[in-house]
Amino acid sequence: MRDGFVVWFTGLPGAGKTTLAIAVENALRARGMRFVQRLDGDVVRQDLTRDLGFSKEDRDENIRRVTFVAELLSKNGVATMCAFISPYRVARAEARRRCHNFIEVYVDCSLDVLIARDPKGLYRKALAGEITGFTGIDDPYEPPEHPEVVVHTDRETVAESTAKIISYLEGRDLIPPLGAPVEAR
Ligand code: ADX
Repeated sequence: MRDGFVVWFTGLPGAGKTTLAIAVENALRARGMRFVQRLDGDVVRQDLTRDLGFSKEDRDENIRRVTFVAELLSKNGVATMCAFISPYRVARAEARRRCHNFIEVYVDCSLDVLIARDPKGLYRKALAGEITGFTGIDDPYEPPEHPEVVVHTDRETVAESTAKIISYLEGRDLIPPLGAPVEAR
């Protein structure tokens, strides 16, 4: 069986974490990988962590629980995509320590572009003071210091950013090459 791993997408709200996690998930399935699981902030917060808000304590607890799940999955051969703002370095370092083959992807995007895009209208609300404690506006985000992959979604296409991640995973021999025979998957 192939080795499990975790691709951990971190970045500001709206940077493209979910979009890229889905694109990578689809790319892995297209290579015949069947044990693939995505964990996404917006979804996980409706279930596993629905009791939590956005204080530092609650964000840390959110990431701690997700880390527990990602640890179990990655140690059992599952290709795991995690898409969480995960703003605090210490919490991400703990995820790195516990997960098998932890690959941190920094989804970088300038604040100007994020505010212009604003698909959920949350930046507008945060700038208007209707939401407080919004990451990137009045709540901290600590960028990774040594991420395995950096993507710049303000100047790359989804396909380009996805290709960077896929090629990193190939380089680490964590995923089968395109067109590999079934037994190699
Ligand atoms: S994390 O900080 O604990 O890692 P997570 O990724 O799970 O956050 O959830 C982020 C999602 O919550 C965003 O996509 C956004 O839609 C929503 N959200 C609601 N309030 C906030 C807030 N104050 N800061 C950031 N995201 C928020």
